[in-house]
Amino acid sequence: MNSFKLTKRDANAFALDRRNFDVLDDQTAQHWRSDFLRCGTAQRSNPKRLIIELLNSCNLDCPMCRVGQYGVDLKRRMSLEHFREVLDQCKRVEMVRLNGLGESTLIPDFDAYLDELYTRFISVELITNGTASDKIYERILDRGGKLFFSWDAASKELFEVLRRPARWETCLQTLKNSCTYFGRLGQGHIGLIFTLQKTNIAHFTSVVQLAADSGVASVQMNVVKGGGTRWVDSEFSNISDQIHMAFEIAKRSTLRVFVPDQICGKRVEGATSASSGTHCSAPNDEALVRWNGDMQVCNMFNPFLIGNAFDGNFEKSRQSAFSELFSKKLNSSEGHPYCKDCVYMAEAYA
Ligand SMILES: C[S@@+](CC[C@H](N)C(=O)[O-])C[C@H]1O[C@@H](n2cnc3c(N)ncnc32)[C@H](O)[C@@H]1O
Ligand code: SF4
Repeated sequence: MNSFKLTKRDANAFALDRRNFDVLDDQTAQHWRSDFLRCGTAQRSNPKRLIIELLNSCNLDCPMCRVGQYGVDLKRRMSLEHFREVLDQCKRVEMVRLNGLGESTLIPDFDAYLDELYTRFISVELITNGTASDKIYERILDRGGKLFFSWDAASKELFEVLRRPARWETCLQTLKNSCTYFGRLGQGHIGLIFTLQKTNIAHFTSVVQLAADSGVASVQMNVVKGGGTRWVDSEFSNISDQIHMAFEIAKRSTLRVFVPDQICGKRVEGATSASSGTHCSAPNDEALVRWNGDMQVCNMFNPFLIGNAFDGNFEKSRQSAFSELFSKKLNSSEGHPYCKDCVYMAEAYA
């Protein structure tokens, strides 16, 4: 029995070693591997905020994401049993954010997952592409939950390119219906997440105006990852102008606008928000469980793995040597390359 346990654990550590370090450049991988040998148990308490990826598949095929490029595959979902098992292990959790590389609301028995959360008095945050039914969104608002619609453009033309094959009119109607419901209820939250890309810089102010006109409570700026960021240098003055105008709109309404204090390392002036690229405590404060149980370090899907939550291993993974290694390097000059210039703003969800 003992030797089986040892082999299983070693095999797992070996797999994590390959997955975590093989993606780093040779020199960084060498440093991380040798520092890993000096790591023991991470001291981390159970988090109050949990991010869960229910489905790793999508009905849209957004060009900056591509998770939906092969169509919807419901096999890539966390079963209800596994979902319960994860929640059972997280006794202190007060909020679950349903986010992921995929669209959670596509799960046919999505309501049953919400039931699990509500019977445990856990509040819900949903990040969604806005293609679900009004009923789903209303149910979350009914319980004081928060909805974050991804919204990257202010015109039909660009929206339908960035959110293909969604239809502008349909999504806008859904957003407006949810806002009307939210306005009547007077509880919950509706926010927009604008992912800044080379093609939509000029749309930020108009999306903020659309939000203010529709009764949305917040807009947060995210910045696209992958595909290079040289465009940020050449477009920085346009980006800054858009941000400045967005804050002017916010001043005249109840809307809150969250813009990271740096974009690709360039400081953003004005009433900006602390971003994890400046200082990060996300891996301590939050935990992320992927659809297959894999535990990564944060809401931003940093690929670094600390373990797997299934089979009762949630806490063990939070305290693993991989977890310890990541924490030691975080906020240091040897931080994980994926963390560079991170735009996560915990306060945008607060
Ligand atoms: C991957 S989606 C999943 C949730 C849901 N399906 C949605 O569209 O909101 C979560 C967020 O990640 C953003 N996103 C997608 N691809 C990205 C990328 N390459 N870099 C940064 N953010 C990205 C999306 O715009 C969205 O706001
Ligand atoms: S990617 Fe890194 S810096 Fe950003 S939230 Fe995750 S751990 Fe923090």
